[in-house]
Amino acid sequence: MEFAIETCGLKKYFGKIQAVDGIDLKVPKGYLYGVLGPNGAGKSTTIKMLSTVLYPTDGKAIVLGMDLKNGGRTLKQKIGVCPQELVVYPRLTARENIHLIAQMYGLSKNDYKERTDDLLGKMNLLDRANDLSKTFSGGMKRRLNVLMAVIHEPELIFFDEPTAGLDPQSRRVVWDFIKGFQAKDSTIILTTHNMEEADDLSDELVVIDYGKIIAQGTPSDLKGRLGEGDIIEFKVNNPEFRAELIERTKTLDFIRWGKPIGKQRIVLNALDGLRRISEIMDVIKVEMRDISVRENTLEDVFIDITGRRLRN
Ligand SMILES: Nc1ncnc2c1ncn2[C@@H]1O[C@H](COP(=O)(O)OP(=O)(O)O)[C@@H](O)[C@H]1O
Ligand SMILES: [Mg+2]
Repeated sequence: MEFAIETCGLKKYFGKIQAVDGIDLKVPKGYLYGVLGPNGAGKSTTIKMLSTVLYPTDGKAIVLGMDLKNGGRTLKQKIGVCPQELVVYPRLTARENIHLIAQMYGLSKNDYKERTDDLLGKMNLLDRANDLSKTFSGGMKRRLNVLMAVIHEPELIFFDEPTAGLDPQSRRVVWDFIKGFQAKDSTIILTTHNMEEADDLSDELVVIDYGKIIAQGTPSDLKGRLGEGDIIEFKVNNPEFRAELIERTKTLDFIRWGKPIGKQRIVLNALDGLRRISEIMDVIKVEMRDISVRENTLEDVFIDITGRRLRN
């Protein structure tokens, strides 16, 4: 298997802050590779190192066959980055924004003219192509920003939280766009703190927390690790007794694990949970409020490992 990215012990420290703390990553060529983690986990810092924006504190990284230590300029031509912070030029039109980037990459007008309009069409921006981008909504600017990252048809594209803050409709457009790009054999790195996005789009993903990889695999591998069970989540009135309540559920053979979560909730992993809620009520013996039952999600993988939610 060929890899677009291979890192070993990759680190970035900002003074005492260990933003990225020893990441070993292998991203196969052609994959859409997810990086899922809560705010502050080190996703953007990782992307910035891999796209030559930040220099690593330590460790090794090979990107498209080039060592980051001396990849520099040649690498920049082959990669595209859609940063987490919007970078569009407000006094240029949508079309001009893309043309500008194309020119920076040294593309000829013949190459980028048609491609630009094709891209604008895919993001539902063609009818606004001649409007100044400062008149755009946040979602439109974000969609434009995504296009600016791909105009030079990079082999490797980094999308850093491309759908954060988007309305569901724009999010769908961006997802479809990203999927379409993958169909062209590009390798894509997508960071997100949205578990549905990671689940839906990733061929494989890493879950990171405090600068470290805490889980790695395909979405179904990761969810499969929690077993076949359902997730049952509920509130209790006296959260200080949660450990004891969870202990009581362990007498039931269909309960696989339980965790306190948030201020007053409990999460249980149970086989055939929906049918057996009454048995749980019988052993817990206190009121279970706001009960919900769902299939495993990637967030439950995160909860299982860390005892926290992805989003606080
Ligand atoms: N330039 C910087 N200087 C100091 N600390 C930083 C800098 N950039 C990021 N950090 C810190 O590094 C950690 C990881 O940040 P980041 O990579 O942005 O996380 P994520 O993208 O997963 O939200 C955070 O604690 C953040 O505050
Ligand atoms: Mg970030």
